[in-house]
Amino acid sequence: MQALIETVFDTATGTATHVVYDRRNGYAAVIDPVLDYDAKAGRIRTTNADRVLALLASHGLTLQWILETHAHADHLSAAQYLKQQAGGRVAIGENILAVQQTFKRLFNLGDDFNPDGTQFDQLLAADEVITIGELHAEVLAVPGHTAADIAFQIGDIVFVGDTLFMPDVGTARCDFPGGDARVLYQSIRKLLDLPAETRLLLCHDYPPAQQRAPVWESTVGAQRAANIHVRDGIGEDEFVAMRNQRDMTLDVPLLILPAVQVNIRAGSLPQAESNGVQYLKIPLNALGRSRAG
Ligand SMILES: [Fe+2]
Repeated sequence: MQALIETVFDTATGTATHVVYDRRNGYAAVIDPVLDYDAKAGRIRTTNADRVLALLASHGLTLQWILETHAHADHLSAAQYLKQQAGGRVAIGENILAVQQTFKRLFNLGDDFNPDGTQFDQLLAADEVITIGELHAEVLAVPGHTAADIAFQIGDIVFVGDTLFMPDVGTARCDFPGGDARVLYQSIRKLLDLPAETRLLLCHDYPPAQQRAPVWESTVGAQRAANIHVRDGIGEDEFVAMRNQRDMTLDVPLLILPAVQVNIRAGSLPQAESNGVQYLKIPLNALGRSRAG
């Protein structure tokens, strides 16, 4: 197999940014890069993205693709920063249009934001195949966590995005706008129908406190045997009931408001205002549940 993978893990958001490359010719794709955001100060840094750039440089790789598995709610995307620094085309699943429409309404964005996907260089359809050097990466539609999630399959490796986590952590939440636990179950079972030895590269790990170090790779066999939410024997209705129940207990992600409004713009920050400062919007009383109720 000529596909090699190296990973930069962001401990602040639990995100694994994978660099997959064709070792024969050095063409690379970066999957789900993180732009660091200090919510207390409103300060952006590029520490994680610079680690990715250093990794690319150390292997002499040419960045061909910057791939997003979905519009993340837990971190801002470094796609535009990486593109400025190293080139490459920014791509996401074509159903991002529905996500853009939803969040255009929430953020009351004006005519300068068109929910038409043109912020990205390419929109990817289910079953489409893109090439990374001579590697063939097939786009798998895996909605459920959001309406637009995709995964990428390169031979016996699948980058699963936010579908499965490590077996002891389970699965991604489904309570964001457009999320659907039943749809996620069906997407996951499609992944778990692949051969048992298929390698699954995860977008996140949230290791149970103090119990183990972060890990971002599993297999179909390991997930079918031991995933706490969706191992073999757990049916669709049981999963849906568990997932919906659990989602009701989860806090809104710390960075959902800053993250989503940047990520639906493919990682571009808003235009600076007349004083030269860029601003993000915070809708009040629009997300989450009222504690008072
Ligand atoms: Fe996500």
